[in-house]
Amino acid sequence: MKRVFSGVQPTGNLHLGNYLGALKQFVELQEDHECIYCIVDEHAITVPQDPEQLRKHILDVAALYMAIGIDPKKSIIFVQSQVPGHAELGWILCCNSYTGELSRMTQFKAKSGGKESVGTGLLTYPVLMAADILLYDTDIVPVGNDQKQHIELTRDIAIRVNNKYGDTFVVPDGRFMKSGARIMALDDPESKMSKSAENEHSRISLLDEDSKIKKSIMRATTDSDGEIRFDPENKPGVSNLLNIYSALSGKTVDEILANQQWRGYGDLKKELVAVTQEAMAPIKRNFEEIRYSEELIRVLNDGAERANAIAEPVMARVRDRFGMGIKL
Ligand code: AMP
Ligand code: TRP
Repeated sequence: MKRVFSGVQPTGNLHLGNYLGALKQFVELQEDHECIYCIVDEHAITVPQDPEQLRKHILDVAALYMAIGIDPKKSIIFVQSQVPGHAELGWILCCNSYTGELSRMTQFKAKSGGKESVGTGLLTYPVLMAADILLYDTDIVPVGNDQKQHIELTRDIAIRVNNKYGDTFVVPDGRFMKSGARIMALDDPESKMSKSAENEHSRISLLDEDSKIKKSIMRATTDSDGEIRFDPENKPGVSNLLNIYSALSGKTVDEILANQQWRGYGDLKKELVAVTQEAMAPIKRNFEEIRYSEELIRVLNDGAERANAIAEPVMARVRDRFGMGIKL
């Protein structure tokens, strides 16, 4: 069975972009893969975090993982900082990567742009991500399109180390969704939906109340020509709504457009409100049941133990190849 690894940062409530771009495939993959899903708190601290909020968000994401259908009997769910191999391998890989390739990363440029002083962690963030992936001999990494560059870097580092030290790492492949791969902000369809945007109506959180879902979608930016068609270039707002509709309903955009009787954008939005509310309802129900249960903590502790059992032999192999420590 092929092994799958992915991670999400505990930096706020997950939104539709996270769900349709990444998390939905997490659930599908667990049926016929060995899946490991991580809550990457070591990545979260590359920017300042309030400790109490971070702890809360870690448990929120863990509960959301389970609420959308990740089954701890089939998949490993764990918190990154509970497995020491991530930080250790992160350091070793830092010593096998170059500041040039790291400063070329789009995400680094976006996060560091215009700042006088930039934290080192922001630069080395993708190396830690490479460590997460390589630590488990991962075959497949399901992520949203925005992570493509980081996956490429992971492959480059793995190949570089293999060439220098002999076969050490499995070289992983990214897996990207077709319809949900890039969900755009509702208020600004030129930028991606994100946890950190100031306007709460730019995104739909998986835990939003029905009334908030309605408000955000009804306010979504469209355009003035009034024609409903899929054309991301010229009609990014309408196309984003159709894309969300398609990803949530499992129908293709063509199927949706062929069967609609909408008279205007308002009708499309109203229908999308209903589709979204219906998709989010079971997630919210499950979340309430799991979030404050003892089971959640048990799942995470058990997940860390299982993850560590896979990571430790890989670390032993890495130390051995590099000639680190003493041979037992
Ligand atoms: P993050 O919230 O940055 O930890 O992202 C978690 C996962 O969601 C990653 O696989 C991202 O690629 C994916 N993701 C984040 N934002 C979006 C978006 N707007 N559209 C599609 N996928 C996204
Ligand atoms: N960098 C990813 C993001 O921002 C999160 C992440 C960290 C990740 N480590 C990972 C994703 C390993 C996949 C595999 O979304």
